[in-house]
Amino acid sequence: MLSQYISKTPKSKVLFEENKEFMPYGVSSNYRYFDPYPLYLVRGKGSKVWDIDGNEYTDYNLGFGVLEVGHANERIIEVISDTIKDSSIMGFEYYKTGTLAKIICQRYGIDMVRFSSSGTEATMHSIRLARAFTKRKKIIKFEGHYHGSHDQLLVNVNPLKVGGKVPSSSGIPDEVIQNTIIVDWNDIDSFEKVAKEDIAAVIMEPVAMNMGLIPTDKEFMKSVFELSKDKGFLVIFDETKTGGKFYNGAAGYFGVKPDIIILGKAIAGGLPLSVIGGKREIMELIGPGKVAHGGTFNANTLSVNASIVTLRELLTESAFYQLHRLSDMLEIGYRDIAEDLGVELSVSKWGPSGSIYFSEKVPKNYKEFIRMDFSRWFTYFYVMLSKGVIPMGGFNEQWTVSIKHSEEDILKHIEVAEEAIKKAKDTKTNMSIEESF
Ligand SMILES: Cc1ncc(COP(=O)(O)O)c(C=O)c1O
Repeated sequence: MLSQYISKTPKSKVLFEENKEFMPYGVSSNYRYFDPYPLYLVRGKGSKVWDIDGNEYTDYNLGFGVLEVGHANERIIEVISDTIKDSSIMGFEYYKTGTLAKIICQRYGIDMVRFSSSGTEATMHSIRLARAFTKRKKIIKFEGHYHGSHDQLLVNVNPLKVGGKVPSSSGIPDEVIQNTIIVDWNDIDSFEKVAKEDIAAVIMEPVAMNMGLIPTDKEFMKSVFELSKDKGFLVIFDETKTGGKFYNGAAGYFGVKPDIIILGKAIAGGLPLSVIGGKREIMELIGPGKVAHGGTFNANTLSVNASIVTLRELLTESAFYQLHRLSDMLEIGYRDIAEDLGVELSVSKWGPSGSIYFSEKVPKNYKEFIRMDFSRWFTYFYVMLSKGVIPMGGFNEQWTVSIKHSEEDILKHIEVAEEAIKKAKDTKTNMSIEESF
């Protein structure tokens, strides 16, 4: 399977050899690297991207869930072209930022927001804010949940061995993560044991999207909110991904009001913008001499205008109806393939995104996730790539459909997936997660 990928992508291989002299692994983010070398892309339009060898792919990775408006969306091009004429950075506040703040507050049920540029920055600021508000130090996070690449939450994101607290990078001192407590996702008992009066906040991906797509047990979610009220800690929804999956995000979907919400990725049509939002009494702690929040590129004119257009005109309620419908087609397609081929395959879908697992059941937490055999997944992935479909960004990612995907795109995806899963079924090797990272 790998041989097909290699024979189709000789220029990516050459570029990799050149780039790795100047960039570790030849990439700008570890998540863009996969063996034997990464794919170098040149351009995108709508649902398609093209690599440096000229191969065309239908893209379901979409910048790891960013481009629900599709690549090079005409309205985004238009608004950015107009905006840049009046400068990209004002230094002082841009006059339209408040308009965007109001749109986001009304849509996501938030009292006040501040803007940053990435999900990493927003979650980092959110835990400082939670600590300032509660005057407590400890933060609960869930194993397998990812909140960006800052030290305090870069713990048990993808540990190779189960058990104990494991930093997900070298260079993170124990002292920095001593106030981070790790709990199994969807596990009320293990949450109850640590959910005490000394906790500042619990942070979660309200639907887990960094281990495929693991649905949320509604009873578990209910217990988290109840315990937070009882014990006086805050609930932080990291909606960097989920915020773009339903019109009102996961908070709207579950009908809950978290104390702090983080948004990012899809909300600015491909431009870098993230949001730290929350209840007024918490957000009002931010300010000079109080809780720090800054960033040179925060709410730059390009991101602000792209986000206004994205939220007002592109990711509308009817757009979500269409995104969900196409994603339903994919889900049904994968289920039919599994049944027709008699392959042990489970499918999980939430809104425009979904994932497949070569296992009888969708895992319910990280421990179940890493017990799986990933060799079949990798066969599937390379066949998909060699047949012109990027099904998702990696084995712990999910598909996303954009408003530019068509039924024809979905039917092609299903057709190629059938071939890929047929090949995956015959894969004999037993590749553990250790070999996959
Ligand atoms: C749930 C979640 N939070 C935070 C982040 C970090 O966002 P960024 O890469 O914009 O820093 C990600 C990135 O994938 C994410 O999935």
